[in-house]
Amino acid sequence: MRADIHSHLLWGIDDGSGSEAQTRALLTAVKAQGKRFLALTPHCDPAHAPMEEFLEQRERAYRRFLALPEAEGLTLSLGAELYLTDAIFNYDNARELCYTGTDLLLTELQYTERFTGPAEKRLFRLVNEFGVRPVLAHVDRYRFFMKDPALLEELAQAGFLLQWNISSAMGFFGRRLFRRFYEKGLVHFLGEDIHRSVQDAEKRGRELEKLSERLPELFTCADRLAEEEIFRPCK
Ligand SMILES: [Fe+2]
Repeated sequence: MRADIHSHLLWGIDDGSGSEAQTRALLTAVKAQGKRFLALTPHCDPAHAPMEEFLEQRERAYRRFLALPEAEGLTLSLGAELYLTDAIFNYDNARELCYTGTDLLLTELQYTERFTGPAEKRLFRLVNEFGVRPVLAHVDRYRFFMKDPALLEELAQAGFLLQWNISSAMGFFGRRLFRRFYEKGLVHFLGEDIHRSVQDAEKRGRELEKLSERLPELFTCADRLAEEEIFRPCK
């Protein structure tokens, strides 16, 4: 896995890395995993803080991050993980939340029991009113998608892109689940959604190696798509 499109490695901005030292250790682990393309996607919830405030904070955090020696050798993309509620529609646009130089916006849905009408309506409003293409964050974390792949198929057909957290692919059943959805064309991007644990990141490196040997095509396709769609404008 060379490309990771979902991480919380900017410190001091959300519930991700808590310090410079933690970010440095996490970056060392991430690079040891073989990753070369990394997106920084801090949580953004416009219902809790104005977007301007978030953007200023993110800019400061990003400048600090770029000064780290461990950041060298990585192709970076700056984005956000938008928590999708009606609050975003109080703004004129959401372009600045997209991955650097793209119209792709990592979007987290509310954790409800069902994928309801309002959630779907909001997704389409993002497309129609803001002209962005939502990348649905960690689709594996929503039971309504895992129980009903047809829902994801409909969204993929409508042009939404789907990101999976790699932790769901661990173990026999996880691997089988990934393979099943991949074969239906429903795994577009991979991410680790790293928050804080250095130990997890180190352990994940060994797991990723084994997993990519078992699902080589899936990793190659996800890496290629990420490099083309998300990281190409950053080079
Ligand atoms: Fe996240």
